[in-house]
Amino acid sequence: MKIFRFSQIDSTNDFARKNINKIEIPSIIISKVQNKGRGRFGRMWASPLGGLYFSFVTEWKGPPLPLIVPLAISDVLAELGVDVSIRWPNDIFFQGRKVGGVLIEEVSGKMVIGIGINVNNRVEDLPETLRERTISLIEIREQNYRLEEMALKISKAILKLRYSKQDNILSKYLKKLEGIGKECEILQGKRILKGTMEGVDINGNLNLIVNGKKNIIYSGGVKRFYKK
Ligand code: BTN
Repeated sequence: MKIFRFSQIDSTNDFARKNINKIEIPSIIISKVQNKGRGRFGRMWASPLGGLYFSFVTEWKGPPLPLIVPLAISDVLAELGVDVSIRWPNDIFFQGRKVGGVLIEEVSGKMVIGIGINVNNRVEDLPETLRERTISLIEIREQNYRLEEMALKISKAILKLRYSKQDNILSKYLKKLEGIGKECEILQGKRILKGTMEGVDINGNLNLIVNGKKNIIYSGGVKRFYKK
């Protein structure tokens, strides 16, 4: 696996996009800091020193990446002693706080899998508005982690899961998923949908019951759950 290392960069996903035809497959682009880290839906991804920011560039034939990638992350973090959950579709959570996120983009038939995890940074390093909803691995376990090693492990775990049966992937994913049967708000573009989370299908789409009717949600994300 080829690794491109940067001390700082605008965004590892943007680097991958711009250089997609020059980059060997598979490759990892990793940076200590990102100046213009991007999240899903055009949001910014705060990327201070200490966090893990990388893009794994690969070709992909296999079960859907939105299921595979959060599973690979949760498997690797479990090995490191942190038991995380998945918030639909692929946010990484620990006890109601966000630890990491995934931004998957297809460029010229190749997949750019951007992963950001709060690791050795502390929430004080993040913009104030995010602090309450975020936690980092060092705050969970009070230990430092090796960032490049973690990126490599996650990338390899993604490749390994490619050969799993779709049904197994889905059942593993559902075991880690937060909120089945719970009432939640789904943010879809600018629209907010309120409903009960019934499950996720093999393609990673969410089944949401709204006013007694089943809706299939293809994009968006869980904004919050309602406490019962
Ligand atoms: C999200 O939760 O909205 C997804 C966040 C993805 C952030 C990662 S950090 C590495 C890669 N480069 C980016 O600019 N974004 C992704």
